[in-house]
Amino acid sequence: MGDDDIVIAYANPLDMSVIRLKAGGVLNNKYGSFAHDIIIGKPFGSRIASKKGNGHICFLAPTPELWTSTLPHRTQILYMPDIALVSEFLDLRPGKVVVESGTGSGSFSHSIARTIAPTGTLYTFEYHAERAAKFIEEIATHSLTSVITPTHRNVCKDGFGLTDTADAVFLDLPSPWEAVAFAKETFKKGRVGRLCSFSPAIEQVQRTCEELEKCGFADIRMFETLIRRQDVKTLKKRSIPTRDSATGLVEKNDTKKDGGKKRKRAIKLSDDSADGEDVDNEDEEAAEDEDGNSNNDEDESEKLIVSRTIAKVAGHTSFLVFASIFIDQN
Ligand SMILES: C[S@@+](CC[C@H](N)C(=O)[O-])C[C@H]1O[C@@H](n2cnc3c(N)ncnc32)[C@H](O)[C@@H]1O
Repeated sequence: MGDDDIVIAYANPLDMSVIRLKAGGVLNNKYGSFAHDIIIGKPFGSRIASKKGNGHICFLAPTPELWTSTLPHRTQILYMPDIALVSEFLDLRPGKVVVESGTGSGSFSHSIARTIAPTGTLYTFEYHAERAAKFIEEIATHSLTSVITPTHRNVCKDGFGLTDTADAVFLDLPSPWEAVAFAKETFKKGRVGRLCSFSPAIEQVQRTCEELEKCGFADIRMFETLIRRQDVKTLKKRSIPTRDSATGLVEKNDTKKDGGKKRKRAIKLSDDSADGEDVDNEDEEAAEDEDGNSNNDEDESEKLIVSRTIAKVAGHTSFLVFASIFIDQN
């Protein structure tokens, strides 16, 4: 890491921030005080102790994913689940030419730039003067000016000012239907152009689809990205209850031998093991670290990694409408 570099100060997945290293600078946060001079010269990914030595932070190289997690929000932004789907369905890859509006906070712009670099170009349009200016500053700092061409413009009123240029168009606008006809003009001739529009409300989707049809787009489809988390745990394998343990015979015998110590455990096993749920006993808790992973020295064959889909689905962000069109040579 060098003087003037942008780095991500990563404490944990929920606590990271972006900083610019400056000789003589200091990062102060709840983990302690971190002199930039200690960080400068170390490789990206280094885990560095605070001045007092009681806190640690990792300093990571910025990536579009980390930028999306730390960027200053000027608007609502696109997050990775949507970004992944849109990038795939718009067939983004190195060399592609993409038109985007609005730029907003530039979350998606950074991912597009990485995907199409070094030979592709992203033309991104934003009508809010301050946001457009801030984004121009950011891409200069992030050395992305060779891939991104930002423009301050109202695309619903003035169009994109591009013809025979784009492979793909991405719209994240309050009234995307007003930009559809202008978007069509930007596509390369003699090729199939792909468009995606991102809208939070179904009424916006309906109006956009009507306009897409009117303009001759085909293969109009809508998707919604929802995250389903998996709860992954390590459990201790246990044998299937025998007739004796099920009837309590073992309990009685064990109670005699160990003065009642094992009785509690036997009851727990028969209570909990029947429905495959996690075991809530002291032995098990002691074997798990903070992340729920087993950390004792037991034989690996005694452990079982299980996962379960968490029923609650994270909230809706937006609907994604995709469409494509073949543009004639004439
Ligand atoms: C939700 S934000 C886009 C967020 C962006 N996709 C991101 O990931 O950071 C929508 C942006 O569109 C801009 N916008 C709205 N109408 C526009 C128009 N007619 N022309 C250009 N930009 C427009 C707004 O100013 C706003 O910054």
